[in-house]
Amino acid sequence: MSRKTLKSWQQLAAEAAAMDDLQINQLFADSSSRFEDYHLSHCGILFDYSKNRITDSVKAALLELASECNVAQWRDAMFAGDAINHTENRAVLHTALRSHRCPDAAVNQQVAQELEHIKRFSEQLRSGELSGYTGKPLLDIVCLGVGGSNLGPQMVTEALLKKPEDTVNLHYISTVDSVPLEQLLVTLNPETTLFIVSSKTFTTTETTLNAAAAKRWLLSQAPATALAQHFVAITVDTARAQAFGIAPAYCFKIWDWVGGRFSLWSAIGLPIAIGRGYQAFASLLAGAAAMDEHFASTDLDQNMPVMMALVGIWNTTFLNINTLAILPYDQSLAQLPAYLQQAEMESNGKSVNWQGEVIDYKTCPVLWGQTGINGQHAFYQLLHQGTHDVAADFIASAISCGETALHHQTLIANCFAQSQALMNGVSAAEVKADLVATGGSAETTERLAPHKVHPGNRPSNTLVLNTLDAYHLGAVIALYEHKIFVQGVIWEIYSFDQWGVQLGKLLAANMLEDVQSKQPVKQYDSSTNGLLNYLKSVSM
Ligand code: F6P
Repeated sequence: MSRKTLKSWQQLAAEAAAMDDLQINQLFADSSSRFEDYHLSHCGILFDYSKNRITDSVKAALLELASECNVAQWRDAMFAGDAINHTENRAVLHTALRSHRCPDAAVNQQVAQELEHIKRFSEQLRSGELSGYTGKPLLDIVCLGVGGSNLGPQMVTEALLKKPEDTVNLHYISTVDSVPLEQLLVTLNPETTLFIVSSKTFTTTETTLNAAAAKRWLLSQAPATALAQHFVAITVDTARAQAFGIAPAYCFKIWDWVGGRFSLWSAIGLPIAIGRGYQAFASLLAGAAAMDEHFASTDLDQNMPVMMALVGIWNTTFLNINTLAILPYDQSLAQLPAYLQQAEMESNGKSVNWQGEVIDYKTCPVLWGQTGINGQHAFYQLLHQGTHDVAADFIASAISCGETALHHQTLIANCFAQSQALMNGVSAAEVKADLVATGGSAETTERLAPHKVHPGNRPSNTLVLNTLDAYHLGAVIALYEHKIFVQGVIWEIYSFDQWGVQLGKLLAANMLEDVQSKQPVKQYDSSTNGLLNYLKSVSM
């Protein structure tokens, strides 16, 4: 039965159709308790969703939708380790990496063992006990991986302040473009460099090509035996990693029940423990575990991931707002938009339901964004006055990690002012009054007024972390993960596969031979033939 036949769905569709004149700021004028009624606070995170086009009856219908779609039962099935990733016949147990909810003792034991491995290895490396082939400490850690095997650790290490004791330098290489790796290697000393090859499959072209290049670089300057002290692998396929030459003690295990984009909690997070200390990694897990506990045990209407998911579904599916801007007001979270882009779009960017039927409603919005301050001087113009409706998540922290209060106060002022401006806009009457007050002539006022009007009524959420430390970062990432899960359940799509990505990988592999060959091609469409033949004419 299509989701569209549900009573709550039909009520929401009717509510959306009647929404044309609803102004968010009018909802505030009508209710002095709007913020009280439309925000939640858990795990050191405040989630304010009051600046959305949501009324009490919409909220009730959204909650009814969640219950008609059995969100609570699906959530329990995920935590229980049921094979809810049906298209790959796998359990989805990234939560077992950080909470103690997994009923499978074998899984818990594997997780504990690998966590101990991460702890031991990161502490020995940071203390200098683990060294390179000439006995020198390992100071530069080059992390090779792509997508879920790169974005999480990179985002987290950049988000967490480097302390004086964090003496190793982390470098992330994800692209198959050789330039970043080449440019980095000329600055490094093989005696003090460690490569971490992060690849769940250990077959991804980008990563294996970079790993092979790194190995050539090392062995051109060091004896073959050096490989054992300078390469780490994090993978499901440890046999393949060992065939590459990586020592068994330097192989870290992950499992097929950890999705790539949900894997930073596993050994894929090793660079975090190495770069920011094992305690920081443990705090990250603890923050995520707290959010797991909240998600698993809280009524739907008080449940932060559930409410966040419902607000998103309302905006995308019912109000037809097709994009979501992620706008952190913390420079350290610069990589968060890219991280969430993968998390959400690779999970829910699907158009076929559980029954294999094409879906006739909107699913995952297009996620994009960057740090709010830089965005203000780049694309906020479109947010305020463009023709597209854009929903936004503003993210800030209450207590700064910086030392200069004025800078943080200015950040916060900008963050809160922007969400307010997007909601309130500036009416023609206000613009005209302002122009007149500043001495504008009648002609100038009439001419300029339309250009200065801000329609407002743009929806946004605001998340305030108590502070941007490992614990709160873990909690906020887990919040988004569970939001994605709830949305997948309601949209009736499988959130844990990524067949769309596999297609591109396959086609690129097939085309490589034609790129390498000097022979002109004619077997593709005329555009692809034209591009390949032009490339050959210029480069060969
Ligand atoms: O981008 C597709 C994807 O399969 C991601 O889900 C995954 O995180 C990434 O490729 C890397 O894959 P692997 O870890 O196997 O190298």
